[in-house]
Amino acid sequence: MPAINVSATTSRSRECSANGPLERAALAALRAPSLLNTQPWRWRVRDDSAELSADRSRQLTSIDPDGRLLILSCGIALHHATVALAAMGHRPRLTVWPDATAPDLLAVLRTGGPRQPTFADQRAFQAMMARRTDRRPSSPDVCIPGYRLEQLRDEVERHGAHLHLLRPDQVPVLIVAAAHAARIETADPRVRNDLARWTHRPAGHRDGVTAGTVVPQIPRRVPQREFLPNDDAGLAAGDGDDQSANYAILFGDGDEPADWLAAGQALSALLIAATERKISVNPISNVVEVEPTRATLAGLLCQLGHPMIALRLGVAAATPPPPEPRRPPAEVIDT
Ligand SMILES: Cc1cc2nc3c(=O)[nH]c(=O)nc-3n(C[C@H](O)[C@H](O)[C@H](O)COP(=O)(O)O)c2cc1C
Repeated sequence: MPAINVSATTSRSRECSANGPLERAALAALRAPSLLNTQPWRWRVRDDSAELSADRSRQLTSIDPDGRLLILSCGIALHHATVALAAMGHRPRLTVWPDATAPDLLAVLRTGGPRQPTFADQRAFQAMMARRTDRRPSSPDVCIPGYRLEQLRDEVERHGAHLHLLRPDQVPVLIVAAAHAARIETADPRVRNDLARWTHRPAGHRDGVTAGTVVPQIPRRVPQREFLPNDDAGLAAGDGDDQSANYAILFGDGDEPADWLAAGQALSALLIAATERKISVNPISNVVEVEPTRATLAGLLCQLGHPMIALRLGVAAATPPPPEPRRPPAEVIDT
């Protein structure tokens, strides 16, 4: 396994030099996925700390009025930074919600002393940098072995959230919920506006969902968010039909900002573990964006928890989808 080199893996989007481990960790965390690739976070890196804040100017107020998916996305970035630190040989030391008077200051990350990176640390880092959202339907003839799904569930549990793997008889409920959420959102001109804005970014903006990662709207087992008209979608759907896909709900014990942040950290751990195991993941968030279908999902959990996001899991295709762009470090990291 080659040595970890954060600067090399992020060099294409670099505009500032990364010196210390905390800055390099923040750089690596640029790869974190986020709702419509809004990348709604900021880092303030000082000698001995990296502060993560929510960037409310990038909140999608129509789709995500409470900011739950914004905070969840920040939780993913936070976990990504800790994975990078561990791979660089530093024990991550984390304080979440350090200042009750500054609710958008989500966490402070420090290094807690040197530690020899393990093979698992390095493998996790490499999976994190290689991970992509895959919207193509899952291949018809391969399915994820049950024990692999259990490993993903364990990973989520280890990070303070839960994963409910839908039984086949529960999938129709998700199908109806996804169709219902899509109808509610499509009828809202503010949502249509936000979707159009984040799928048609002005030249030079390195964010949003680009056509090359969107598949045409073909019949799906569980309806997908409609990002673009068919003629504009640039990723061939392939011959999959989603029949072999698994569906899951990541959920938390509470429904407060602290739970959304923890859910993001757990989702990041799941995404990395899935990538290591050649499992592709497609988040399905419209079902939690609208209240009635969030309640439907809570019903699938027997009201035992609060749904944070739904996921489609499949065996990864041999070729990954193209990467989405990321904002230049100078816009996101204040050093
Ligand atoms: C909170 C959250 C919600 C998301 N919701 C959806 C969704 O409903 N449908 C979808 O296809 N992708 C969804 N995504 C995936 C993002 O669009 C994707 O992460 C982003 O465009 C960056 O691309 P990447 O994951 O390939 O790096 C979501 C991601 C996050 C973190």
